[in-house]
Amino acid sequence: MNVGIIGSGGREHAMCKEIKRSSKVNKIYCFPGNAGTSELAENIEIDISDFIRIKEFSLSNKIKLIIVGPEKPLVDGIVDFFKNTKINIFGPDRISSQLEGSKIFTKKICETYKIPTAKFGVFKNSSEAITFLNKTSFPIVIKADGLASGKGVYICENKSEGNIAIEEIFNGKFGVAKNLLIEEFLKGEEMSFFVISDGKEIKNFETAQDHKRVLEGDKGSNTGGMGAYSPSRLINEKLEKKILTKIIKPTINALKDMGSNYKGFLYAGLMIVDGEPFLIEYNVRMGDPECQTILPKLKTDFLEIIEACCNENLRSLKIEWHDQKSLCIVLCSKGYPNEYNKNILIENFDKLNLNKGDFIYHAGTKKINDKIYSNGGRVMNFVSLSSSFKESRNRIYSHIKALNWNSGFFRKDIGYKVINE
Ligand code: AMP
Ligand code: GLY
Repeated sequence: MNVGIIGSGGREHAMCKEIKRSSKVNKIYCFPGNAGTSELAENIEIDISDFIRIKEFSLSNKIKLIIVGPEKPLVDGIVDFFKNTKINIFGPDRISSQLEGSKIFTKKICETYKIPTAKFGVFKNSSEAITFLNKTSFPIVIKADGLASGKGVYICENKSEGNIAIEEIFNGKFGVAKNLLIEEFLKGEEMSFFVISDGKEIKNFETAQDHKRVLEGDKGSNTGGMGAYSPSRLINEKLEKKILTKIIKPTINALKDMGSNYKGFLYAGLMIVDGEPFLIEYNVRMGDPECQTILPKLKTDFLEIIEACCNENLRSLKIEWHDQKSLCIVLCSKGYPNEYNKNILIENFDKLNLNKGDFIYHAGTKKINDKIYSNGGRVMNFVSLSSSFKESRNRIYSHIKALNWNSGFFRKDIGYKVINE
């Protein structure tokens, strides 16, 4: 079977590698991919918002299945676009993708279906929002409604920080804003919880914890993700049951009531407060870098899982995992998440001595004349599986040290909550 993968990050390289392992795959095409995927697949330079060209290319190259990595095409309705074609496409439709496309959509579902989440209010203009700030206590969380690449969330410690957030959001920093969300600040520990669904059956797809902030100690600006580890230290059977019954299943049922059968990965960002799960946000895809952290633990054929989802056959498939600790560190361009230089040569790559259980997934890279150059803020993901998070992290350090890329930086404390120094 020929398979298409949409996206160009570490998540898509990790998916590409898993698909390549399948005996069922013939050829893989990545739209547009990166230097890493070019080793396993053919990279195709088509803009991922150009659904018509992706469809034409897929039909003429006999692609039977397309896996969508990032959220934007899903929110823009790529799955609906492919509906009456011969091509299976893996991901939720436009209605379900609003779970990520609109935070207010998700909050309203939580309200109607009594899903535990932070208390909230929706404000249509700055004067309403500022009036509310004048009578509330801090900290408080202010959020832009739509997609903002993880940047439209402000944790405000006082009124003046709140005023800045309101002003920036209504001034269009994250696109035209008809309203914004103000939420109660939840104090607890975060966890990413993943499931996969075929529209009928829901199966767990592991847990993880990512580190979104750029600086050690989880300080500084938010990024796309500086590293992650899996499993989360918080997960246990009792909590898992609560998450499924109080959060995931009512959400899938709510979407059914709206006429949408959820197919694809669903990623719940949760705050665990005294053993109780609260929904912070939904993403309608795998996380990045959580995907790179989780997929190497997978024993079952990834392509079979995706196919089973497309064919609504997930119930009969057992998803099996290696019982190991996985940790991922992201090597970034110096300056990220602000200004950074691109097109810097990454040497020594072929000199790295990877053990079984060590993986490198490219993100912002490109290949020119067989040499690898940086091409983005998050450049490469180093993942290691072992019996302890500490050993995984040490192995990654040795690889990053051997790479010796002077234009990059990385966080040295990924997994600090699960590693005793
Ligand atoms: P989001 O993009 O909604 O996941 O928010 C980004 C980050 O802001 C989350 O990972 C949390 O660390 C934090 N956050 C968002 N909402 C809340 C909340 N209601 N209480 C506490 N922290 C929050
Ligand atoms: N790691 C956060 C995300 O993928 O949204």
